[in-house]
Amino acid sequence: MKGIILAGGSGTRMYPISKIYSKQLTLIYDKPLIYYPLSILMLSGIKDILIISNSETIPNYKKLFDTGAHIGMNIHYAVQAAPKGIAESFIIGDKFIGKDDVTLILGDNIFYGDIKFIYRAIENNEGATIFGYRVTDPERYGIVEFDNEGNAISIEEKPKNPKSNFAVPGLYVYNNDVVDISKNLKPSARGELEITDVNVEYLNRKKLKVEKIGRGVAWLDTGTPESLLAASNFFGVIEARQGLKVACIEEIAYNMNFINKEQLEKVIKDMPNSIYRNYLERILKD
Ligand code: DAU
Repeated sequence: MKGIILAGGSGTRMYPISKIYSKQLTLIYDKPLIYYPLSILMLSGIKDILIISNSETIPNYKKLFDTGAHIGMNIHYAVQAAPKGIAESFIIGDKFIGKDDVTLILGDNIFYGDIKFIYRAIENNEGATIFGYRVTDPERYGIVEFDNEGNAISIEEKPKNPKSNFAVPGLYVYNNDVVDISKNLKPSARGELEITDVNVEYLNRKKLKVEKIGRGVAWLDTGTPESLLAASNFFGVIEARQGLKVACIEEIAYNMNFINKEQLEKVIKDMPNSIYRNYLERILKD
């Protein structure tokens, strides 16, 4: 299983900071936003990851993660010249994906809580597995409609009259067919290769599974300044209470056995004096 993080886009909603700064680098409490989706892929056991973004931002991701070797991963980078749609990820990532299956996560999507639903989806996926999460503002998302037996019967992108309150989060598990499906898509009215059209194609082929995510999982919004502040406060509260960091990628690499104790020691030694470094030193001692 390969992993892709789509972390580009125009991000103009965050103007004026968007003039110089990509949204996925925004600080969520104590680390950049992209650490959260990256950690979800890592916790799912995915080590081969492609980060797709615009040419201005790729150098920043390289500064953060380099080749990933220090945390036992292979991190690759690719440029998306313009935000032409989420499904373009699979065309840009064609060579990287090769003959494998692929999990895509959007670089601004945060999940927290009991995330076994992701491991299960990756283990059992046959065609495509996507998720449904109850929200109060369904017109902002891809929306899935279920029949009485809980089978998905329609998916619509940002519908004016939503048929349900179940939004599709930016986390998608696909078999290798996704590459061909994406190559055959036509741009939508807004000029994008829509991820919803990929999912509708799997639905038409009867190869789409939609798993509802329960209320014990937090899928946090990062679309507005208010929601970014809320996400920071959320993780600030949790980290202060537990004394443990969320989405600390070095700790996850160690716990997942991507790296051993000596490798973690080396990673820590290369860090400047900081709260983050102190935390990892404590983890190592414990
Ligand atoms: O967050 C979940 C939602 O994400 C889904 O429910 C929708 O079905 C899906 O279309 C998408 O909706 P958004 O309106 O949130 O998509 P947005 O255009 O904001 O893009 C999501 C992220 O992906 C954002 O951080 C920018 C990045 N992106 C987006 C596009 C279209 C790219 O890097 N390249 C792109 O071409």
